[in-house]
Amino acid sequence: MIDIHCHLLPQIDDGSDSAEKSLEQLRLMAEGGVSDAFLTSHYMPGHYQYERAEYDARLRQLRELARQNGIGIKLHPGFEIYLHPFSLKDIQKHDLRLGDSRYILVESDLNGLPSDFYENLYPLLRQGYRPILAHAERYVSIMNKVHDAKDLIRRDVYIQVNAGSLLGLYGEKVRQTAWLLLRNGWAHFLASDDHAKAPYGAYFKAVELLKTELDAEIPQLLTSEFPAKILRDEKVPFKYLYLRAGHEHRRRQKKSLWKRIFG
Ligand SMILES: [Fe+2]
Repeated sequence: MIDIHCHLLPQIDDGSDSAEKSLEQLRLMAEGGVSDAFLTSHYMPGHYQYERAEYDARLRQLRELARQNGIGIKLHPGFEIYLHPFSLKDIQKHDLRLGDSRYILVESDLNGLPSDFYENLYPLLRQGYRPILAHAERYVSIMNKVHDAKDLIRRDVYIQVNAGSLLGLYGEKVRQTAWLLLRNGWAHFLASDDHAKAPYGAYFKAVELLKTELDAEIPQLLTSEFPAKILRDEKVPFKYLYLRAGHEHRRRQKKSLWKRIFG
C-alpha cells in the first residue's frame, strides 16, 4: 500500500512534533503493509511556508533515521497546498509536486469551496498539473451536495478520501459523505492524513471495512494501484468502475451461453 497523504515530516507543520513520533508511525505503517508514503506537509501562505531546501534536508534526515532503525518504508516528497491566487507561482518556485509526478495535493476552505476555487485551479490544470483534492468529504459544500464531487471530477480534479472519515473520526456527516463518495465511484485515493496524534491504524481499519462493506478491489485500487500510478507519473482513470473484473466475467458468461445454444 502507498499512503499519499500524511504529515509525518517532523516539526514543519501541525503534524508530527518529533522524529521519534514519526519513526513510531512509520514503523506501524511498514508493519501493516505500507511500502511507500508521500510526506505531504502543509504549504499554506502565512501559516506554513518554507524553502524547498529546508523540506528536503528534513526529508533526508528522516530517511536516514528510518534506515538506521530498520524501517523499510520508502519516503517521497509531497505537499498539501492550500489553494490561493498565487498557488501556481508557489508550486513552480518550490516544486510542490508529489514526488517527480505531475500530481499535486490541494486543499481549500473546509467551510465550503470558495467562489474562486476553479479560478485558482485552472492555471494549474493548464500547466499540466494533476490536482487531487485532499479529504473532499470534509468540505461543507460537498457534505451538503455530494454530487458536486462529480463536477470536480468532470473538471479533471481527482478526489482523495481520508481513512478516518470512513470510521467516523470527523463526525457522522463526514462519515456519510465519505461512504457516498466511495459507493458512487467518486474517490480515487484513500489516504491517512495522519498527523501523529494517535498510533497509526485508522488506515488499516478503513481498508478492512471497505473490503467487507464494498469489495476487496476498491481498497486495492485506492491504496495501491492508483497511488502506484503517481509514482510512475501515469494517468489515473477518472472513471474506474469499468475496470472491475465482474465485467470480464459477465462477458465470458455471455459467450458460453451463446455457445450452449448455438454451438
Ligand atoms: Fe492533510
